[in-house]
Amino acid sequence: MSRIRLAVIGAGAIGRKHIDVINQVPQAELVAIADPSPQAEALARTLGVAWYAEVEAMLERAKPQGVINATPNTLHVPCAIACIERGIPVLVEKPVAESPERAQELVLAAQKHGVPVLVGHHRRHNALTAAAKALIDSGELGKIVAVSAHWILQKPDDYFDVAWRREPGAGPLLVNLVHDIDLLRYLLGEIEEVQAMTSSATRGFANEDSAVVNLRFACGALGSAVLSDCGVSPWSWEMNSAENVIYAHTPENCYLISGSKGALAIPQMRWWRYGEQSGWHAPLLQETLNVEPIDPFILQLRHFLQVIRGEAEPIIDAADALRSLDVIDLIRQVAPKAA
Ligand SMILES: NC(=O)c1ccc[n+]([C@@H]2O[C@H](COP(=O)([O-])OP(=O)(O)OC[C@H]3O[C@@H](n4cnc5c(N)ncnc54)[C@H](O)[C@@H]3O)[C@@H](O)[C@H]2O)c1
Repeated sequence: MSRIRLAVIGAGAIGRKHIDVINQVPQAELVAIADPSPQAEALARTLGVAWYAEVEAMLERAKPQGVINATPNTLHVPCAIACIERGIPVLVEKPVAESPERAQELVLAAQKHGVPVLVGHHRRHNALTAAAKALIDSGELGKIVAVSAHWILQKPDDYFDVAWRREPGAGPLLVNLVHDIDLLRYLLGEIEEVQAMTSSATRGFANEDSAVVNLRFACGALGSAVLSDCGVSPWSWEMNSAENVIYAHTPENCYLISGSKGALAIPQMRWWRYGEQSGWHAPLLQETLNVEPIDPFILQLRHFLQVIRGEAEPIIDAADALRSLDVIDLIRQVAPKAA
């Protein structure tokens, strides 16, 4: 089978990860990078692939069969639509757009041109996610009652040297919590109601640096999420899941899920339930689910290749990702102005 010719738009932090992954998957071939930065030009030279400063020029001349769009949030939709209009399937990094209105433009463009869009909520491809979903869907936890989620991870100050990360359209609700919201939607179903508070008191940027959120799921479960990109903590998917070696692995849990028959702590995959007797006087039994680690970005790319070949529908398309973005938008609407 011939290799699928891919291009990457935006060869920054996550774009380079995608490039590494393309180079590990034999069925894929990187043919071009579109990114105006001198660093991207140097990277393309090192890799021996074509470099373009402009997206349209790259699409016209390199003619990739699929594109990975890893640009800043506000460029997701225009770059993705440029691909779609040329009939090229595109993997768009998350959040799918900086606002639901912009995301809706992408949904309509994908429908109009009949071109698939996969959104880069890569945690959906993680084997840990699959194992958690299988346990929840099996009914072993009973009716899900409550979930507690933590994403508290201190970003280094120089992360914010890149201007777009400080500007409207970024911020940890859109860049980080959208991952957790998407994963919780995937595991537990739709979110119907939110309450929230945000704060920018520590970093002092226009965007929030911290937030607390209450969630009501359509299944009846209640949830809470705590988010901060300036607090020291061992509780975040990045540090706990070991899915990406750039984050120091800390074997803690960032999601605690409780049902009427059992509980699951993710990603350490500790499953708790009662034995013959139940109730608060009885001891809980505990076992750990064994999950073979595999880089979810590799699984995501293999899935994208299937989507390009027409062998699979996107596991998360623009319309589905818009529903995760809608929750973030609602959180921003209901939160009183950041203090
Ligand atoms: N899936 C994940 O886990 C994950 C992780 C990090 C970032 N992201 C997402 O990926 C996106 C990029 O984040 P990042 O941290 O890599 O950003 P970054 O700033 O490190 O990289 C963005 C790149 O886009 C390039 N760029 C800017 N304008 C461009 C244009 N007009 N055409 C082509 N390229 C252009 C920049 O030069 C830069 O190299 C964001 O949407 C972010 O939310 C996802």
